[in-house]
Amino acid sequence: MIIVETIQALSKELKPLRNKIIGFVPTMGYLHEGHLSLIRRARQECDIVVMSIFVNPLQFGPNEDLDRYPRDFKRDSALAEQAGVDILFHPSAEEMYPTPNLTEVSVTQVSERLCGASRPGHFTGVATVVTKLFHMVMPDRAYFGLKDAQQVAVIQQMVHDLNFPITIVPCETVREPDGLAMSSRNVYLTKEERQQALILSKSLLAAKDGLTTGRWSTAEEVRDFVYQQISTQPLARIDYVEVLTYPSLQPIQKLTNQQIIVAVAVRFGQTRLIDNILCCGKE
Ligand code: PAJ
Repeated sequence: MIIVETIQALSKELKPLRNKIIGFVPTMGYLHEGHLSLIRRARQECDIVVMSIFVNPLQFGPNEDLDRYPRDFKRDSALAEQAGVDILFHPSAEEMYPTPNLTEVSVTQVSERLCGASRPGHFTGVATVVTKLFHMVMPDRAYFGLKDAQQVAVIQQMVHDLNFPITIVPCETVREPDGLAMSSRNVYLTKEERQQALILSKSLLAAKDGLTTGRWSTAEEVRDFVYQQISTQPLARIDYVEVLTYPSLQPIQKLTNQQIIVAVAVRFGQTRLIDNILCCGKE
């Protein structure tokens, strides 16, 4: 595995490989099985696997966890190599943003609800850095996790609208054996918070069961069910519970056979966790 820290070094490495299928996995590091599953999928489908590790300041709000976002580059590079990365791109903030970015990529509508509503500017930060990374790597395929289903919808919309010649590959959420969706932020949780956080995956799984068996006829009933389940945990402070169409992320009333997302964001102490399930409103 080759580690490069500058855009110039990255271009130099990629230049002789342009006739190959290049797969790209953008991350912010502190790698776990979720990230590694994307690398393995890219490894299966591509000739060359490029991964980036960059904690992107543009996508963090002023009161968010940019400064304390967990980092461990040594461990990450060992894991990346084991999982089959060929080129690891690890730029500094100065390399990515030598001057303030006066250009933004902003995806309307799909960015507006869920995390877009509770984290203003977040998806513009994501779309802007992903655009820059796409231009630097010029991959054929790029791998994103459905743990961040809204991010997948935003990137797919951007790639469609702006004609990026890149196939976006959405990948299933990887969970701990007890159901908790893997996240770099899980390390922040106390033992008690982590235990209570299991309500996220439990309530979403129960919602999926209910949807498959036709238990509800409206989106609001599903939302209320999940909301009540999460509210049983004293440490849980709900940011949102929403049931929307996917990937268009629009509100719905009556459940139809259209694909929907049940998405939640919940704070436990200082830690904000998100999780979701995708399924058909009526099977
Ligand atoms: P990060 O949170 O590091 O996630 C990198 C990729 O790993 C994303 O596509 C994310 O959806 C995926 N991922 C995280 N947890 C996962 C899980 N439990 N199962 C499957 N995939 C999972 O998402 C970002 O970084 C950034 O916004 C980025 C796209 C790199 C832009 O800065």
